[in-house]
Amino acid sequence: MSMKTLLCIGGSSGIGAALIEQLAEDHQIYVASRTAPVFTHPNVHHVVYDVNNAQTDLLTAIGPIDKFAYFPGSINLKPLSMLKMEHFKEEMQLNFFGLVEAVKAIYPQMNEHSSMVFFSTVAVQTGMPFHSSIASAKGAIEGFTRALAAEAAPKIRINAIAPSIVDTPLAGRLLNNEKKVEMIAERHPLKRVGNAQELANAAAFLLDEKNGWITGQILAVDGGKSVLSL
Ligand SMILES: NC(=O)c1ccc[n+]([C@@H]2O[C@H](COP(=O)([O-])OP(=O)(O)OC[C@H]3O[C@@H](n4cnc5c(N)ncnc54)[C@H](OP(=O)(O)O)[C@@H]3O)[C@@H](O)[C@H]2O)c1
Repeated sequence: MSMKTLLCIGGSSGIGAALIEQLAEDHQIYVASRTAPVFTHPNVHHVVYDVNNAQTDLLTAIGPIDKFAYFPGSINLKPLSMLKMEHFKEEMQLNFFGLVEAVKAIYPQMNEHSSMVFFSTVAVQTGMPFHSSIASAKGAIEGFTRALAAEAAPKIRINAIAPSIVDTPLAGRLLNNEKKVEMIAERHPLKRVGNAQELANAAAFLLDEKNGWITGQILAVDGGKSVLSL
């Protein structure tokens, strides 16, 4: 059987890097990001790509695609009084418009029984102070996920993952000393932050055709934060 093709926008660090390491042995993987992944493998190919200045012809050149994941995201926590309209627009651009532009480009070349995974945040379904710009941008992703899953069925399955804090470069400033890590861990029923492998496991699960009866879902991978109150 021929190898499945996975396109990751992002994949040079954090959750995306963990996913490509996990799937490299039996997938042809294209990583479209500004910097190359540190992890190298004959099946992993880097495409220089910036979602803020997207050259989507680089994505369409890849050909038929079985699995797609979009990783660019931000953590920009500020009270509304400190957020300019520019911040909202930047957040929308990186998290949402960059995603829509890539999906529109590759949509015609998605194979039968293919799958897409997007990333939201726990802060969409659970209100949290100082999250208004990121919750808005990720909220758009959740709406897009459900609407497009309906439109793309039965050919393409589309799901999103909503993490709480995960130990990756993106969350570096929130987790840069032990006290902060302890404080954040304490706010989760499972009493720790997540790690990139756990989120990559969830993405690999949703992308895998073995789990081919799941679509239109927003999967919470959040240490219990969104649904348990202890
Ligand atoms: N970590 C958390 O605590 C957390 C919590 C909730 C939600 N999430 C979501 O989970 C997703 C993955 O997060 P992560 O923690 O793995 O982040 P990360 O370590 O910062 O990785 C983000 C990836 O996206 C790429 N990227 C960023 N800006 C880009 C651009 N302009 N053009 C192309 N690629 C770009 C980066 O590659 P280059 O820099 O090489 O371009 C990198 O490979 C994000 O959508 C994030 O919002 C994360």
